Amino acid sequence: MTAHKRYPIPDAIKDTTLLNEEQYQAMYNQSISDPEAFWAEQAGMLEWYQAPTKIKNTRFGEGEVSIKWFEDGELNASYNCIDRHLADNAKKTAIHWEGDTPGEAEAITYQQLHYEVCKLANGLKKLGVKKGDRVAIYMPMVPQAAYAMLACARIGAVHSVIFGGFSPNAIADRINDSDAKVIITSDEGRRAGRSVPLKTNVDKALADGACPSITNAVVLKLTGADVDWNDDVDVWWDELVDDCTGQCEPEVMNAEDPLFILYTSGSTGTPKGVVHTTGGYLLYTAMTFKYVFDYQPDDIYWCTADVGWITGHSYMVYGPLINGASQVFFEGVPNYPDVRRIAQVVEKYKVNSLYTAPTAIRALMAHGDKPAEGCDLSSLRLLGSVGEPINPEAWEWYHRVLGENRCPIVDTWWQTETGGIMITPLAGATELKPGSATRPFFGIEPALFDADGKELEGANEGNLVIKNSWPSQARTVYGDHERFINTYFSTYPGVYFTGDGARRDEDDYFWITGRVDDVLNVSGHRLGTAEIESAMVAHSKVAEAAVVGYPHDIKGQGIYVYVTPNDGVTADEALSKELRDWVRNELSPIATPDKIQWSEGLPKTRSGKIMRRILRKIAANEHDQLGDTSTLADPSVVDKLIAERLNK
Ligand code: PRX
Repeated sequence: MTAHKRYPIPDAIKDTTLLNEEQYQAMYNQSISDPEAFWAEQAGMLEWYQAPTKIKNTRFGEGEVSIKWFEDGELNASYNCIDRHLADNAKKTAIHWEGDTPGEAEAITYQQLHYEVCKLANGLKKLGVKKGDRVAIYMPMVPQAAYAMLACARIGAVHSVIFGGFSPNAIADRINDSDAKVIITSDEGRRAGRSVPLKTNVDKALADGACPSITNAVVLKLTGADVDWNDDVDVWWDELVDDCTGQCEPEVMNAEDPLFILYTSGSTGTPKGVVHTTGGYLLYTAMTFKYVFDYQPDDIYWCTADVGWITGHSYMVYGPLINGASQVFFEGVPNYPDVRRIAQVVEKYKVNSLYTAPTAIRALMAHGDKPAEGCDLSSLRLLGSVGEPINPEAWEWYHRVLGENRCPIVDTWWQTETGGIMITPLAGATELKPGSATRPFFGIEPALFDADGKELEGANEGNLVIKNSWPSQARTVYGDHERFINTYFSTYPGVYFTGDGARRDEDDYFWITGRVDDVLNVSGHRLGTAEIESAMVAHSKVAEAAVVGYPHDIKGQGIYVYVTPNDGVTADEALSKELRDWVRNELSPIATPDKIQWSEGLPKTRSGKIMRRILRKIAANEHDQLGDTSTLADPSVVDKLIAERLNK
């Protein structure tokens, strides 16, 4: 095996980081050998109405999966994010909001955050929202998105944030799956100078009684665009909260009460509503935020994610706010108005730690050193990466151009289901290797299994599992605990299966190799091939469709679709465009196919199962590595597909 390039811990940060190597080792060892004692002590990071005495009660048994942490503790998430900081830090900025258009900005203190969240919490109560009710949130990246989440948490309602890029059908599916009572949205969103018709999308989702559980839509006036109005359902945010006070007593919640549902894609079927509960999730996100970003009280932290994804939940709302941090909340995109936007925002707010995704880094890297030109990046101390494997070239560019060869990069591996960061370097404790997420965080026991369920030892490559529970682990799939068990605990009974492959090297460093199931990671967005396929076959001209990922320079993975049109349909460029637009509208612009290949037939086994392994190889132009095709019902299909692919 070739030796990897290494980046030692810079001398300049050795005395200032929260943890060094010995401290990491000591804490890690305790977290594994005595999790009860370790987590009981860490629980002091949160403020509890009733401190927990029962720490861990978790079972990954066959047929029975039950995960409880701190089960007799009582607390409130919004209290921990806001009220606890008011005594000493009321005037501290919680959110530096930076708009899509440069120059548009607003600073929100913890005091203001308290006021806004309480007002909306009271407004939601007026609409009849009670503890345990679900509230959907479909918002752009404005501070009100965080207010909405925290207002739900304050009154014990369960939020379900729907990414602002999803289309009406996807919104309706998510509302109906969770039986949401209220949806909170805005007239429009803005992105790279364009407007996004959020309210119109909600109207379409609710049309014709498609979402019977919804009683009201709360609408924030943001751009002032003309929107349709239904007096029975719609209520302006401002009018709703106008007569509400800025005080709202937080609801006392059990540690195991649900905090939120977040939908994510799997290898089969419709998206799953991943359920996170209160105590364990808050503790783990607070703790990982502190140690992974080496948080110091005067830091300015910036995560470029969207609140619609788990990164936005854990590391833009709960983690930073519990720590009382000041952070940048960015409405725009990294290359608008031009490729220096990230560097300009870093300079403007003197950002100390920046957390972004490999896809953004690769998009900027295509412009050489220009993305940093003329900008003062000296405030940066630490860089982070999340969402997909970071290729060493992108890592090196990030380190050199934005990190000025000075800042360590924390490549954080985790998932919607894990709630918080699982495998990551720590700036003061871990020597870095570009492309490796390195070592587990406290309490995390990663292991590699082969296809037969045998654990692999030492330097090896296999399927990544986690052997024991950790506090922010998802508790269930909303309304379908069987599916939770089947998806995560049936492949390898007794452990949590991540769906990722990984390699462990001679230093016990982990290298995530990507999904081993039919889940795509397109620009850091997680998409199920099954979802895209079902959108495709819903089109009247499509007989059959198979979706696979293929390597893409910027997106990491692109979406490659094999389509068999119905008899008599002309397969041409016009149809290709029609199908692309169709998926955009049915599902989301992020699910738009990059390549469509017409195919008379698909490679299937004699029992009719599509052999995706072969389709993936053809899409990636790796025709020489097709492997065994002898089980195919009609092997000649493959030759035709290859011939077509080569002509593209
Ligand atoms: O394949 C892994 C990839 O993203 C998946 C989880 O996606 P999602 O639930 O949307 O959460 C993304 C943000 C945490 C994982 O199964 N992934 C995430 N981070 C990394 C990664 N792959 C490699 N390296 C990472 N740092």
